[in-house]
Amino acid sequence: DPVRFAAQRALDTYSGQPGNLLPILHAVQHELGCIPDEAVPVLSQALQLSRAEIHGVISFYPHFRTQAPAGVVLEMCRAESCQAMGAQSLIDHARQKLGCDFHENSADGKVTLEPVYCLGLCAQSPAVMVNGKPHARMTPAKLDRLLAEQGA
Ligand code: FES
Repeated sequence: DPVRFAAQRALDTYSGQPGNLLPILHAVQHELGCIPDEAVPVLSQALQLSRAEIHGVISFYPHFRTQAPAGVVLEMCRAESCQAMGAQSLIDHARQKLGCDFHENSADGKVTLEPVYCLGLCAQSPAVMVNGKPHARMTPAKLDRLLAEQGA
């Protein structure tokens, strides 16, 4: 069981250290690409923390994810200049099209949606990034095309 194995390895690495939950969660995510729900009971038992406490920490930090990222990662700028140029309606379009929110995978599992805060393209807002490549002056139609090109 790779999840149990990764959780156990992280627990061994940081055992006996106070405040070790965060480094353990980082280590699990580093190894598995996410912190699957199945890891929580293993950590809960070993660290003597309730499952709710661990879920609380995972959901508090946007960095932690419970699903492995999909093949296409769409990052959408939520910073000021993009907001002023209609990023919110673009984001609403993406959420609706993909059937998911930020930090989640799309309903078909092909796209991961993440927020970013300024891509340095403010003069050409709104901006997004697809698999690490920036795209400026985005519109819903352009975004649909871009995702289609990626097979999503
Ligand atoms: Fe979006 Fe700078 S605010 S690219």
